[in-house]
Formats: sequence, C-alpha cells, structure tokens
Amino acid sequence: MKKSAWLRYPLFLLVIVLLGFWLWKIVRGGSDRVSTADSLLEALVEGRPRYLNPDLTPDERARDLVSRMTSEEKIGQLILVDRRALEDENDIAKYGIGALLSGAGSNPEDNTPNGWREMINRYQSVASQTRLGIPLLYGVDAIHGHANIPTATIFPHQIGLGAANDPGLVEQINRAVSAELLATGVNWSFSPSLDVALDNRWGRVYESFGSDVARVVNLAGPAIRGLQGEDPNSVRVISTAKHYLGGGATAWGTSANPSYELDQGDALISESTLRRDHLPPFQEAVRADVWSVMAGLSSWQAEKLSSHHYLLTDVLKNELDFQGFVVSDWHGVYDIPGNDYLNTAAAINAGLDLVMLPYDYKRFTADVRQALDSGRLSYKRLDDAVLRILRAKFALGLFDNSIENTNENNILGSIEHRLLAREAVRKSLVLLKDGNSSLPLSKELKTIAVSGSAADNTGFQSGGWTIEWQGTDGNTIPGATSILAAIKQAVSQNTSVSYNQAGLFAPGYRAEVGIAIVGEKPYAEGFGDDPNPSLSDEDLKAIQNLRRVSDKLVVVVVSGRPLDIKQAARNWDVVIAAWLPGSEGQGVTDVMFGDYNFSGTLPVVWDR
Ligand code: BGC
Repeated sequence: MKKSAWLRYPLFLLVIVLLGFWLWKIVRGGSDRVSTADSLLEALVEGRPRYLNPDLTPDERARDLVSRMTSEEKIGQLILVDRRALEDENDIAKYGIGALLSGAGSNPEDNTPNGWREMINRYQSVASQTRLGIPLLYGVDAIHGHANIPTATIFPHQIGLGAANDPGLVEQINRAVSAELLATGVNWSFSPSLDVALDNRWGRVYESFGSDVARVVNLAGPAIRGLQGEDPNSVRVISTAKHYLGGGATAWGTSANPSYELDQGDALISESTLRRDHLPPFQEAVRADVWSVMAGLSSWQAEKLSSHHYLLTDVLKNELDFQGFVVSDWHGVYDIPGNDYLNTAAAINAGLDLVMLPYDYKRFTADVRQALDSGRLSYKRLDDAVLRILRAKFALGLFDNSIENTNENNILGSIEHRLLAREAVRKSLVLLKDGNSSLPLSKELKTIAVSGSAADNTGFQSGGWTIEWQGTDGNTIPGATSILAAIKQAVSQNTSVSYNQAGLFAPGYRAEVGIAIVGEKPYAEGFGDDPNPSLSDEDLKAIQNLRRVSDKLVVVVVSGRPLDIKQAARNWDVVIAAWLPGSEGQGVTDVMFGDYNFSGTLPVVWDR
C-alpha cells in the first residue's frame, strides 16, 4: 500500500508535465521563439492559432506564423525552384519549400488546364502535410497570357499593348489572364515587365511596353491591378514588377552571358538617369501595391542587381516603402562572380527575399543554415524575408481556401477572352505607311495574293514565351487564327485568296492586292540580341515576288521591335506594324478591311 502511494505521486507529476508540454507545443507550434500573449489566449479560447484567423490582416497573420516557425521552416520559405529540379516531390515537405515555378517550357506532360491543376494540387497537398501546412506560391511567366498552355488565349506581347496605350484594356486583359491562371492552380505571375527598352537590338524589347517611360508608367498600375485585383489584402494572383532595374539600358557587348550581347548586360548610366528613365514604373508598381518585384539579371555600374543593397534595400524597400517581397531572377544569385555561399548570404543581406535558385535547394538550405550559424546572415533579416513572403500568401487567401478541384477547362481560351485579345490586336496596330490611301481594303476585292513567313504561322505571330521559351514554328496552337485564315474569313465569298509563302504564283497570275505578312522568327531573351534587326532574305524575296504580281502591296510586319525596312519599304504601298499579336489574327484584318480604324502609336522609335 505504502509503496504504491509513493509511486503514484511522481506518475501524477509526469502526467502534469506532459500535459503542460503538449499545451505549450500547441500554442507555440514548436517554434524556437516565445509566442505572443495574444496567440496564447486565442489558442486557449478558440483552439486555433492567430495565423489561421481570416479576419486578421495578412501582416498580422504572417507575424503570428513567423513567430511559430523553426529556422529550418523559415529557410524553406526562401526557396523558389523549377518543378523540373525537384528530385522527389516529397522534398517539398522535407525542405519546407516555399515556392515552385514552371520556367518557360516547364510544362506538365499533360499540358492541359487539367494536367496543370492536377500537378499543382499534388504539390500543394505535399506542402499541406508539413507541420504548419504552409501553401506554395506557384509562379509562371504569363507575360502575354497563360501561354504555356496551347489552349490559352495568347494576347499580344506587351510591346503591342504599349502601342495601344489603353490602360483600361491592359487591366481587362490582366484580369482575364488571372482567371486563366487560377483555373490551372497558378497563383503567381512573373509579369508585367516594366523595363524601359531603350535599345531595339535587345531581345526583350517586345516584353516591354516600350521605350517611353511615361507610357510604361501609364500601363504599370492597370497591369498589376488586373492581375491582383483592387484590394491588396485579398488578391487573385500575385503580380511581379520586373526586371528591377535598368535592364533596358545595358550597353552592347557587356552581357555577363557569353552567348548574349545586351541581355544580362551592364547599364553604364548615372544614378540620375537611372532614376529618371527607369525607376518611375517601379514607383508606380509600388503605388499599385504590387506584391513582388523581380531583381533583374543585369548590372548597374558593374554591380549585379541580384545583390545590390543600395537599389534593393535603400531605394526599393526604404525609399519607395515596398512592403512585398523581392524575388531574384533565374539562377541570378549563382551568376554573381565569386563564391556561391558568400554570394548567397550577401544577396539576402542586400534585400533579396525569395531566391529563384532555380535548381539546387539542398545546397541552398545548407548555405543559409551556415550563414545563420556563422552570423553572416542575421535572424532578423531571415524573419523579415519570411514575413514578406508569407504576407503575400495570406493576401492570396491560400490558408483559407482548400484546394479546389473544379473543372474550369473552358476558362482558358474562352470566347470572351479571345474577343478581348482580338480587340487588343486591332488597337495595337500602327500604320507606318499608306502614301496612296490604299486602306482600308475592300472585302469585295476579286483577287488577293498572300505571302510571307508569318502569314500562316500562329507560332511566329505569337513570338517567344509561347509554349516554349523560344516560341514555336507553325500552326501549333489550337484555337489560334493565323492572319491568312483571318483574311479568308474577312473577305466576301467572291474573293479568291491565293497563298504561297515564297510569293510564287502561276505564270500570268495577277492580284488586285498582295498582302505580305513577314517578320521575325520567335526568340526570347539574349537569343534575340541582334545588331541589326531586319527582315530575312527569304521574306524580302517573297515580298519582291508578290510585288510583281500585285497591283497594290500591303506589308504587315510581325515583329517584336522595329525592323530596318527603310530601303525596301519605298516600293511598298502600305506598311503595318502588327508587333506579336498572339492567337487572334482577326484583330489584324478587322482594321485592314475597315471595320475599325488604326489607333496604335509607336511605343519605340522606328526610324522611317
Ligand atoms: C527571365 C525572367 C523570368 C524567369 C522565370 C528568366 O530567364 O529573365 O523574366 O521571369 O526566367 O521564367
């Protein structure tokens, strides 16, 4: 009797201690920091932590969540990897990975809305199995629609929207894009590009709204609001203002990439010029509450943007008061010359929050751990980076919505979105020449001859960043309408439309009007750096051939930037700049055949 009473006492004590420990674990969620009195109270009263309370602001929720996280969990939130680099899907949980992306062409095998949704839901469900169940950001480059997927609506590239210069239209387009993204589970777009593209030889001119800073500023806010929505604390998808800063002003031959010339180069301009010509769009983006800003792969005065403390922290975060997160661009941290470990710590110290590795998350995890242990990186900076990323996740409502398995395949490429894209195409067209007032063309013409490399090629008319990074060749995009097909649809039943790409027609053939649709083959980034953007010999030959058989000659230039056509164009009656119109070729014929007027103006200088 006496012995068992003696035994019962410590047992009772043990139970009390265990119970206490268990309660303490629930409240502080295993963090190595003390949780706030508020969360303690709330957890006791309501049984749920503050970060799960949707009535609190993203900032309040993020702060609560950060206070519960271990440093390993925090390190994981800084990771952004391409899905192709995942060695094992369970690594999402094992490393607490915070964000994934599909870089250009990183599409699921089943490249349909369904295939995407299934893939992303799978990743999200692995993330949800972690201790705190922090959902993933999933990013893509929806720079002219969700153009990773063949059935998406492919809007004109931004250069065309710059020509249209219609803020309402840009907002509507981006709202449509956000719907197409959400239907596939994507919650983050690396757009808009707010580069002010000053050199037409650059391979990224078409991604920009042009060379006029006022125009870029004018369209920045609408693009961001269109994607995110009106309320920054409750957004549809996260928008990214890129590429911060000065990537459109690099000097020829300064690229850090041996295969490129301008792209990833060095902007050798003064601070006052940088501030005057390149900063305003980002100021505007911050005003529009953009949630993320991407640090570019370029340099300013020999210092890489990826770890530019002055521009990332002093200017962007402190001076402009940017509250969102800074994400690096592809492999940016590892492209900084020198030691990768030291550069990683330096870049985060400089103000980088989320790191687009985009491959080796294991090495990164170890490096950040070591930087913290050695004091090279402070816990304070780590907490700030995580806070910024988590705020965005709360603003997205990711913790409040369960993974949806809706069947929304019909949202991609819907009639409504295609009509919007078609409107954008017609507003983007710029009439460069019509000396003899040959336009509009009559739909009752008897004979039309069509030639040129971009006439019957929806891949060419969509440009780079379409399905593949460097774009596609041919009519590879289901639901898209080539300009040739649009001409056939626009004209009367009595009109005969003959097509030959090279402009070769039967002997004796004569057309009232020849329409040459010519231009650049798709390219992306530095692969488009070109000392003299111009038409190919093949296209020039096709135009000559067509000229011979046509009474009047209309040339439609499908290109990402101005081309050197000064000499050749003397012999053409009409020249239209169509930029990279995307999937809706009818936008071109809507104007060519007079249903609408030309209204686009040049967003970049085109030497005439
Ligand atoms: C580009 C970025 C893009 C990123 C992710 C990089 O190569 O410079 O504009 O957002 O890839 O695809």
